[in-house]
Amino acid sequence: MPRTTPPWSSSAPDRRRVMAAGLATLGAGAVSLLSPRGSAAATVALRKLAADKGLLYGTTIAAAQITGDRPFIDLVRQEAGLVVAENEMKWQVMNRGTPGDDEYGPADTVATFAAANSLVLRGHNLLWYYRTPDWFFDLPDRAEQERAVLDHIEQLAGRYRGRIHSWDVINEPIEPKDGRPDGLRTAVFLETLGPEYLDLAYHAARDADPKARLVVNEYDVELDAPEQETRRVALLHLLERMRGSGTPVDAVGIQAHLTAVGGPPFSAPLLRRFLAEIAGLGLTIQITELDVTDENAPADVAVRDSLVADTYRRFLDAALDEPAVKMVVTWGLSDRHSWIVRHETYQAKWRTDDAASRPLPFDADLEAKPAFEAIVRAFEHAPARTAG
Ligand code: XIL
Repeated sequence: MPRTTPPWSSSAPDRRRVMAAGLATLGAGAVSLLSPRGSAAATVALRKLAADKGLLYGTTIAAAQITGDRPFIDLVRQEAGLVVAENEMKWQVMNRGTPGDDEYGPADTVATFAAANSLVLRGHNLLWYYRTPDWFFDLPDRAEQERAVLDHIEQLAGRYRGRIHSWDVINEPIEPKDGRPDGLRTAVFLETLGPEYLDLAYHAARDADPKARLVVNEYDVELDAPEQETRRVALLHLLERMRGSGTPVDAVGIQAHLTAVGGPPFSAPLLRRFLAEIAGLGLTIQITELDVTDENAPADVAVRDSLVADTYRRFLDAALDEPAVKMVVTWGLSDRHSWIVRHETYQAKWRTDDAASRPLPFDADLEAKPAFEAIVRAFEHAPARTAG
């Protein structure tokens, strides 16, 4: 069975048009974010500002960073109240090539680091079509696939039982382009196991770690574009169905991989409505992978940083209005360690000049950027909520 193309796609926009749009956005009010990190911000950590409002703020981390980049790790300790392994808990990454033969060392490094520093730990993820071991594709029948999925969830979620705040049980279950009326992604698990694979997985996760919040994590559901609306509708239907059938689900993860210039338009009222609909189902909401690509922004660093910061600010101001939003995780903390900078994103998100991307709150030298200020302000402006 062939692996399907990766997610996070965005069609290449017309460059001149999007530059003009970006500069218009800048003119409309991003200039105030150009100030460098002030002394107050230097002493008030994001995790503290978030906690004051009942929010958890966190970042991805990697085992290699824990063992090899002390200055970065010190910054994580200073700013984050939560960490999530960027890749170390993904099935294909852990697996050594045969069923059941998983390497837990790097994942344990992350879990131990979290515990040693009293950081909340997210689990990412139990099943993701895009990071499924090769041998799974060769399993001959339904019974063997079901067994493999259940064993994996039991082992991984069971190993960290009681230590994980939330598990992304299924990562990216929606793909309207697959053509099913329910909008569910067909690859990989649904093809043989049917849509019931979701119920199977969430029940197994609940059994393996009863205290972990169980999350449906999805991308491209934040913006005002027809294909994102189709995803939102499919996601809401899935959540309704899960709630209706007693499938254990506690929260929705909104990935929020955003684009500063040239992406689909952002509509605050639309995002608020969508989040309110999720909340109306009795679910909490986590912003799980926030970052901002700058592929179409001008090379000038000050202008670029301002556009990125403005994107963070507009998104967070709208998202944090919803009291069901309990968590904000940026997909990295410093541009030193970002999948965007490493060009692991879809190619349409790469800059075409030689300039390195600047998608995160701190730059590669661990200095705060306007994006940091934007997050500070969004947390300061956010209404208080009960933690969740
Ligand atoms: C990304 C990692 O950041 C990269 O290092 C890796 O090469 C691919 O995966 N959505 C998700 C994350 O749910 O797991 C992805 O992480 C980014 C998109």
